[in-house]
Amino acid sequence: MKNFWIAPSILSADFACLGEDTARVVSAGADLVHFDVMDNHYVPNITIGPLVLTALRKYGINAPIDVHLMVKPVDNLIISFANAGANYISFHKEASEHIDSSLQLIKAHGCKAGLVFNPATSLECLEYVIDKIDMILLMSVNPGFSGQSFISSTIDKIRKVRKIINFYNREIRLEVDGGINIENIGTIAIAGADTFVAGSAIFSQKNYHTVINAMRNAISLVVGK
Ligand code: DX5
Ligand code: ZN
Repeated sequence: MKNFWIAPSILSADFACLGEDTARVVSAGADLVHFDVMDNHYVPNITIGPLVLTALRKYGINAPIDVHLMVKPVDNLIISFANAGANYISFHKEASEHIDSSLQLIKAHGCKAGLVFNPATSLECLEYVIDKIDMILLMSVNPGFSGQSFISSTIDKIRKVRKIINFYNREIRLEVDGGINIENIGTIAIAGADTFVAGSAIFSQKNYHTVINAMRNAISLVVGK
């Protein structure tokens, strides 16, 4: 199960005690902390910025942090989040005028680079930048809010991306974000995903360890240990 990562989205955590709630989900077995950044411009919602990431690091969160930028433009915030202690930084291809240079900027600041595709966004540019990508993030909801339903056409897209990654034979995480729960995570894993973002499905439960474990079991049932 080493190769499958559960990435709780702290968008659904208790913001009134974010440090404590994030620490709880990390000790419950989170592999990555998914950190959703929204600007009320690229998406119709607003969330948290680099200061909050700095505060989480200061609080003692040492787990890898996966910054999902839903902002436009992206380049200034890439630098701020890298300096604040991000490990992965992903942005939406529509949000950058120069995708290749934004990817280079992430790498130049010592982070892993991710490119995000919305449900209706084609994969067209992928082959031109695949050598600079460490993570492909497929949105399975339209970005902006937690608690939405998984869009089923994502399953075919996951299969397509898995084939592309295999073809290029590069170490690239395939992350899926939106509407993931214990019931559908197995299907998403079979299609080829290896990194699963889940917000409401985890934080709505009292016991984070129980739900994360149930997710791992659901994956291992279909893809083996
Ligand atoms: C949506 C965010 C997601 C969201 C997932 O724009 O990018 O990360 O928090 O939440 P759930 O798992 O509730 O769909
Ligand atoms: Zn996200």
